Amino acid sequence: MSATPTQDRFATPLIAWQATHGRHDLPWQRTTDPYRVWLSEVMLQQTQVSTVLAYYERFLQRFPDVKALAAATQDDVLALWSGLGYYSRARNLHACAKAVVALHGGEFPKTAEGLATLPGIGRSTASAIASFCFGERVAILDGNVKRVLTRFLAFDKDLAVPRHERELWDAATALLPYTDMPAYTQGIMDLGATVCLARSPQCLLCPVQADCAARRAGTQDRFPVKTRKLKRGRRENAWLWLGKGDELWLCPRPDTGVWAGLWSLPEFDSPEALSAAARDWPGEHTALPSFTHVLTHLDWTLHPLRVALPNTLSKKSLDAITSALPAGGWYGLDEALAMGLPAPLRKLLKSGVT
Ligand code: ADE
Repeated sequence: MSATPTQDRFATPLIAWQATHGRHDLPWQRTTDPYRVWLSEVMLQQTQVSTVLAYYERFLQRFPDVKALAAATQDDVLALWSGLGYYSRARNLHACAKAVVALHGGEFPKTAEGLATLPGIGRSTASAIASFCFGERVAILDGNVKRVLTRFLAFDKDLAVPRHERELWDAATALLPYTDMPAYTQGIMDLGATVCLARSPQCLLCPVQADCAARRAGTQDRFPVKTRKLKRGRRENAWLWLGKGDELWLCPRPDTGVWAGLWSLPEFDSPEALSAAARDWPGEHTALPSFTHVLTHLDWTLHPLRVALPNTLSKKSLDAITSALPAGGWYGLDEALAMGLPAPLRKLLKSGVT
C-alpha cells in the first residue's frame, strides 16, 4: 500500500530525521533478539537511558537468555534489579520469562498480540518489541509518544477518559508507515526524548514542525490533556538497623505493597513505637537522620534507629530480642549489599560504613 499524505508528512520526515539525528548506538539497538529488546523496554519504562545502560549489561551477563532468567530465583532477579525501582517490573520480568519457557518453548511470540498476553507486557511494550524485532506495523503509545502525537494532531481530548485514549491509539496507528517500522518506532521515541520535550520543546529542531498543529497555533504547552491528578499520600515509619558485630537483621518484605519481595530492615509504625520496643535492649542506640523517599503515589519518610548490640550478649537475650521482630536473619554487611535491597536502604547501609 502506498503512503497517505499524512504519513508523508509525519512518518517520512521522522524516519529521515532518525537516520541523521536519532540514537543509534544504544546496546539494545544492535540486536533483533526479542529477549534483549524486551529487557531494555521493561527497564526503560520508568528509568532513564543513562541509568539503564549499566544495569542492562550486568543483567545480560548474568542471564544471557530467557531460559537462564526463567531458571533464576526471584531473590537473584530482584538483587540485580535493586536500585532500578518499580520492583513489580522485576517480578513481572521473571514471571514473563517463566511463561515464555513454559508456554512458548523458550521463544517469544512473534506478534504484538501474542507478546501482550505475557505478564508485564502492555500494549505499547508489545508493539515496541514487535516493531523492533519483527518489523510489525503496530503503534507504541508511551508518555513521550503521547506528547508528540497530541501536539502534532492538536488532540485536545482528555486522555484520562479511556475512550479518548483509544482514539489516540487509532490516530497513532493511522500515522504508521508501511516500511521502516524499526526506524519509525525508534524515531518517535527519540523525538519525544530529545526534541518534543515536556517543558521547552525544541520545535526548531523538529522534522515535523511545519505540520505540527500545536506548533502552528503556538499551543505546545497545552498537550497532552490529562485531567486526573495523582493524589499523593504521605506515610511515616521507623526502621530498625539492629547490629551484632558486623551483622545486621534483615527480613523479607511482604509479597505486596512497596518494595514487595525485597529485603529490608524491621519496620515500625512510628519512631515512638520503635523506641518503646527497643527501650530495654543493651548497647548503643543512635537515631540516624530521617529521609523521605518519593514514590509515585507516596512521600514516605523513614526514621532509622541504629542499635549496636554488645558482642557479649547471651544467645538467650539475643533470641528474646529477635523473636519479637519480623522473621528474618543475621547477614554480614557485604552479604546484605549483594541482596535485593530497596535503593534507600542500600544507601543507608553504605553511609553507615566508616
Ligand atoms: N525508551 C523506551 N524504549 C526506548 C528505546 N528503545 N530507546 C531509547 N529510549 C527508550
